[in-house]
Amino acid sequence: MKLSIAIVFVAMVVWIAANSVQASEPQTQVKVLVAYHSVTGNTEKMAQGVVDGVKSTPETVVLLKRVQDVSAEDLFSCDAVVVGSPVYWSNMTGEVKTFFDNWQLKFGVFPQFKMRDKVGAAFATGGQVAGGKEITILSILAAMLGNQMIVVSGGGAFGASATTEGDSPGVDGKELEAARDLGKRVAEVAWIVKKGK
Ligand SMILES: Cc1cc2nc3c(=O)[nH]c(=O)nc-3n(C[C@H](O)[C@H](O)[C@H](O)COP(=O)(O)O)c2cc1C
Repeated sequence: MKLSIAIVFVAMVVWIAANSVQASEPQTQVKVLVAYHSVTGNTEKMAQGVVDGVKSTPETVVLLKRVQDVSAEDLFSCDAVVVGSPVYWSNMTGEVKTFFDNWQLKFGVFPQFKMRDKVGAAFATGGQVAGGKEITILSILAAMLGNQMIVVSGGGAFGASATTEGDSPGVDGKELEAARDLGKRVAEVAWIVKKGK
């Protein structure tokens, strides 16, 4: 008799604990992956700005990773992906291109279109004012479009960018603000898409 009372008591405690955890967790969260390549730190600084922008939107989880460290779980569990690249010879770097190639070669996105309906956006840093930042951003967005993602801009006509050489002091305050705007916009659109599903 005492044993059965003890079992009922333990079961009640477990049930109450499980339900109180559920109640304290947010109903839904938007998860944004910010993936970037950076050798001298400029694109990394912009990535941090994007992260800050995402965090300014409530109920968001953000994951900041270098492109080579992104796992299949990171990619497929997120609602949105923001990819950043330095401009190398007027385009994304080899590391960022390899990242996209690995979506299929390592993670097998096709034929199911596993990235479909996730929100996508891009940012870039380049040494020169007119050295290929917009082409770099558009190339990243093209890879996302090929995956049937929902591509958005923010911080600039195509995404956020920074000029980092010559007279420029690396990433300046306005460029960092553009990165934040992009992160905020991505989180907002990811919410709209998630609620609409
Ligand atoms: C191999 C190489 C090629 C580059 N090509 C360009 C280019 O075509 N246009 C440009 O504006 N900047 C170019 N840059 C400059 C970088 O894009 C710029 O310094 C960038 O901010 C570096 O980013 P990071 O600090 O995140 O590594 C090149 C740099 C390297 C190393």
